[in-house]
Amino acid sequence: MSKRTLFVTTALPYANGAFHMGHIMEYIQADIWVRHERMSGNCVHFVGADDVHGAPIMIAAQKRGVTPQAFVSEIAAGRKQYLDGFHISFDHWGSTDSEENHELSREIYRRLKDAGLIYTKEIEQFYDTVKGMFLADRFIKGTCPRCGAPDQYGDNCEVCSAVYSPTEVVNPYSTLSGSTPVLKKSTHYFFKLSDPACVEFLRSWTTGKGKDGTATVQDEVLAKDREWLGVDGHLADWDISRDAPYFGIEIPDAPGKYFYVWLDAPIGYLASLKSYCRKKGLDFEAILASPETEQIHFIGKDIIYFHTLFWPAMLHFAGKPFRVPDHVNAHGFMTVNGEKMSKSRGTGISPLQYLELGMNAEWLRYYLAAKMNPRVEDVDFTKTDFAQRVNSDLIGKYVNIASRAAGFIVKRFEGAVLDSAMQDPLLAKIRSRAPEVQNYYEVRDYARATRLIMELADAINEYVDQQKPWELAKSRDAAEKLHHVCSVALEGFRLLTLYLKPVLPATAERVEKFLGIEPQTWASVDAPLTSAHAIQPFKHLMQRVDMDKQLNVLVPEKKPEPVEAPVLPGGEAVAAECTIDDFAKTDLRVAKVVKCEEVEGSTKLLRLTLDIGEGRTRNVFSGIKSAYKPQDLEGRLVIMIANLAPRKMRFGISEGMLLSASHATDKSKGLFVLSPDCGAVPGMRIH
Ligand code: MSP
Ligand code: ZN
Repeated sequence: MSKRTLFVTTALPYANGAFHMGHIMEYIQADIWVRHERMSGNCVHFVGADDVHGAPIMIAAQKRGVTPQAFVSEIAAGRKQYLDGFHISFDHWGSTDSEENHELSREIYRRLKDAGLIYTKEIEQFYDTVKGMFLADRFIKGTCPRCGAPDQYGDNCEVCSAVYSPTEVVNPYSTLSGSTPVLKKSTHYFFKLSDPACVEFLRSWTTGKGKDGTATVQDEVLAKDREWLGVDGHLADWDISRDAPYFGIEIPDAPGKYFYVWLDAPIGYLASLKSYCRKKGLDFEAILASPETEQIHFIGKDIIYFHTLFWPAMLHFAGKPFRVPDHVNAHGFMTVNGEKMSKSRGTGISPLQYLELGMNAEWLRYYLAAKMNPRVEDVDFTKTDFAQRVNSDLIGKYVNIASRAAGFIVKRFEGAVLDSAMQDPLLAKIRSRAPEVQNYYEVRDYARATRLIMELADAINEYVDQQKPWELAKSRDAAEKLHHVCSVALEGFRLLTLYLKPVLPATAERVEKFLGIEPQTWASVDAPLTSAHAIQPFKHLMQRVDMDKQLNVLVPEKKPEPVEAPVLPGGEAVAAECTIDDFAKTDLRVAKVVKCEEVEGSTKLLRLTLDIGEGRTRNVFSGIKSAYKPQDLEGRLVIMIANLAPRKMRFGISEGMLLSASHATDKSKGLFVLSPDCGAVPGMRIH
């Protein structure tokens, strides 16, 4: 098969903060695929970049008192430690503010204009007179026009879920200055997506195939696109301009008008490739124009609209050398314990903290691989699952094989395997599965790939368990058998390492050194170890993950959210949670009121003589005089706390407490002594 040329990208992250785990997950997904392609001998150009333009970044920079350029270059400087840390093999990392992106964005815009797809229209929009700028919906807040909830965003209400336009908001204000915005007219530039040619093109592109013969987009994505493209095939035109002040790229021949960030962002893919080509002396235009090249984007499910409608349309109508994507591969979101990651709620995982805790990047790569498939499904991170995959699969099944076999080869056989062992049927079986493994990587079904690899690891471990090399080692006559068994296990380990190499590139590299072999590619399946390779003494390849020192620090147990407890008709909110053990500390008993009398000198208290069947009675003072006459209570069953420490009062010692109900503050609402249902006898415990 002829070699492929692949231009691969991941979504360009906003340069308004550090990477989060969702970003890293996307890079790992793409990186595994890219490494697999490189191992197949294909030529891959894998690029990323920061998406730096737009109002939010401009405002964040203003708040920090720096220029947007300075702001985003600081973010850019922080990227490397993450990308290196998680072994992401980008060829280049660019920026949408690069010279190349300015040029390409203007170029593509001009082409679209020449194609008759750009027009201008006057629109009316909220304007902040204090800040001197037009306000995007997210910078407007006010009272919801539907339910009256205050402080809702300019386009939707979080309380009643209503969706509306900012002009409908009651008492709108600018979140930037607090002032009341005014409506102001401005000319905007539009991309005519409603053009029938556009809709027709998108219908065909979304249902088409990439150069590799597989569908351009996944089924779920196509279903979405079909919804958007609709039966009548009418897409709304796309507003692609923003007025100054804006951090972005100025529109040619339109002073004070800038491209909306989502116009120049995807062009940033091409710009990053172009910068890379410039750096490497490659021909950017030739790569783009070549019919051999395949263009593939990895993205998250939230940006499907931009990547499967706007972006291909832009590229198609811009014409050569631009090309439409062969594939847009969408993935789901990473969640933690089934919840969206959120810094404010403390449910995120920090990739930097992960590394700082000394956690192995390849654990995460393996864990995510084991859970990733080609569908647009969320991937959930849980600690127990993570510990289990790493400790049982990766260490227990895979790494374990090397430690079981290598020692004997080095100590007993001078670091050389037995050549004849390479024909063992077990190895033939493992080699025969290589095409399946490769295919799973190819179709991004990493879950299936890792599952198959672990099955093969199981087979090798079973073989070792049956052959018992540690027993063979005890007998002189069994030396050849021992040599055979350990050689089979070690070659098996080499194959597993090869199969896992897209996921575990650093481990693979260390194993290659330890086995004395060249860097492996998919062609290495049929290049077994030979007695000429010098096996090095086995060094520890990978630690287990530590639940206490690592995982529990990375993902702390969630504290229950402090909810504001509602005040009940009783006048108080429900008290802080207690455990059943807390409750069990109070010993509540059914008591009979043997005697009840007024207390001389007290306007509040009654003195009760209570019997809980102890063979003696107790003296209890209770502040219920306002609600009960002594004769009302005598002879009745009540509830008392029987294990309360006796309390000395002015009128004597109180040996317990009577239970009664009342409003917390408003005594006029009455006071009600508790009593058990009929049938209870003194001394029974309340549970
Ligand atoms: N700047 C735009 C993309 C422009 S592409 C021309 C953007 N940036 S982003 O920083 O918000 O997101 C970058 C990528 O991270 C997107 O593909 C997005 O789907 C992905 N993820 C964001 N949160 C994620 C998770 N929780 N899990 C997985 N991926 C997530 O959108
Ligand atoms: Zn509302």
